[in-house]
Amino acid sequence: MHSVLRGADATVPAGQAVAITGRSGSGKSTLLNIVSGIERADAGVVEVDGRNITALAEPALTLWRRAHVGFVYQFFNLVPTLDVLENVRLVLELNGVGNAEARRRGLAALADVGLRDRAGSAVDQLSGGEQQRVAIARALVHRPTLLLADEPTGNLDQESAALVLPLLLSLARSGGAMLLVVTHDAQLAWRLDRVLELRDGRLWEVAQSP
Ligand SMILES: Nc1ncnc2c1ncn2[C@@H]1O[C@H](COP(=O)(O)OP(=O)(O)O)[C@@H](O)[C@H]1O
Ligand SMILES: [Mg+2]
Repeated sequence: MHSVLRGADATVPAGQAVAITGRSGSGKSTLLNIVSGIERADAGVVEVDGRNITALAEPALTLWRRAHVGFVYQFFNLVPTLDVLENVRLVLELNGVGNAEARRRGLAALADVGLRDRAGSAVDQLSGGEQQRVAIARALVHRPTLLLADEPTGNLDQESAALVLPLLLSLARSGGAMLLVVTHDAQLAWRLDRVLELRDGRLWEVAQSP
C-alpha cells in the first residue's frame, strides 16, 4: 500500500492561520479532507476544539462538519442551479436555521465579501473571482471553528487572487476561525501566522526567511 501521510502531525491553536505548502501530489488535499472528515485516515487522530472527530461515525461526522467546518475549493463548487444567496444560505438551512434568519445572515455574509448586490444573480453570471468570494461567504456564514481552503487562488487571475487570501484571512480572524490554506504562493503564505510544508508524508515547520 502507498501511504500518502506518514506521521503528519501538527497542533494549531484556536484562531491561528496556517499556510500549507508542498509539491503536487504531496498529500495537501488529502490532509485537508482528513482534517474535515471528508476522507478517513487508516490511522491517526484528528482533534478539533478538544473533540476527537476520528471517533465520530456517520452521520455524527456529517453533522459536526456541517456545523463547524467551512471549505473553500479551487474550483469554487457553487451549486449552479441555485442563485448566489441560495448558495450561501444552504448550509444554514441544513443546520436548521429558520428562513428569515438564514436570509439575514446570508445577506450579511455576502456584504462581508462585497457582493450584497449580487444576491439574486445566477452563479454563472459572476466572474471567477466573484464566485470565489461567494464561496468564501458560504464557507463562513455558519461561523465555523475551522476554515479550510484548498488552493483557493489556483484558478483565478492574479488580480482576483490577490484579493482572496487577505479576505479569507481577515474574515477568519474576525470570526475567530482557525484557517488552513493550501497555497503555492509563498508571498501570500507569509501573510499568515505560520507556514507548514508537507513533505515525505510529514508536516515541517517552515522558518520565515529574513
Ligand atoms: N482517491 C484517490 N485514490 C488513490 N490515490 C489518490 C486519491 N487521491 C489522491 N491520491 C494520491 O494521493 C497522493 C496525494 O494526493 P493529493 O492529496 O491530491 O496531493 P496534493 O493536493 O498535494 O497535490 C497522490 O499520490 C495522489 O495520486
Ligand atoms: Mg491538491
